Amino acid sequence: MEFPTSIPNRLYGRRRGHKLRPRQELLLTEALPRMRFAGLDFAAGASQTWLEVGFGGGEHTLALMAANPDTAIIASEVYEHGLCSLLTQIIPDGQEATAPIPARLRLWPEDARALLLSLPEASLDRMFLMFPDPWPKARHTKRRFVHPEILPIVARVLKPGAIWRIASDDPTYQGWVEEVLRPSPLFRGAEPARARPPGWPPTRYEAKAIEAGRTPLYWEWVRV
Ligand SMILES: C[S@@+](CC[C@H](N)C(=O)[O-])C[C@H]1O[C@@H](n2cnc3c(N)ncnc32)[C@H](O)[C@@H]1O
Repeated sequence: MEFPTSIPNRLYGRRRGHKLRPRQELLLTEALPRMRFAGLDFAAGASQTWLEVGFGGGEHTLALMAANPDTAIIASEVYEHGLCSLLTQIIPDGQEATAPIPARLRLWPEDARALLLSLPEASLDRMFLMFPDPWPKARHTKRRFVHPEILPIVARVLKPGAIWRIASDDPTYQGWVEEVLRPSPLFRGAEPARARPPGWPPTRYEAKAIEAGRTPLYWEWVRV
């Protein structure tokens, strides 16, 4: 499969922020290559395989990992400081090249959409899209991760009955998720929850949204 021509085959927004500190450089040059997703071998024997798209600071991924030690998790993030934030929590200072890496966690430091195109069919049991960049302007709809043309790409890699969790605090994106996913024959979903359901770890972005007075919605879409 290839990127549909109407979806931009490139990312928008920041991949780099302010200059990295030496420890962060080491995390990216020494630890990240050891944890980089390079195929599903690491998931052999795992009870399930999950993918998180855009993990931000990594706290949601690490909470999932802690609560589900038998599950293989692929975690994707393009922002370097986000990658460093997750790595810093699992790799001790000074051991970037040597510390053992979690057996059931691999990172995809690029556009998650490229990973979706390369994964085998029906290889994932769950996907998580927590507070995607909203791109609220109408002329930017093609930049949104949820997009009519991404649905078959996501559906291909999800097993029948697999769950796609989505959370968003942005009213435009909330309406957009309903507009795109509700009519799709590939997914079915109950009405979204207005409070974080049990078993959903919190995220940093969610905390900011709630503090700012916004109400996130939480969906579970089931691959038909
Ligand atoms: C608004 S932040 C939310 C971060 C985190 N999920 C949270 O709830 O705190 C969205 C994140 O998605 C990442 N992102 C955006 N597009 C992506 C893509 N195509 N693949 C992987 N990550 C992406 C961004 O770098 C950003 O860190």
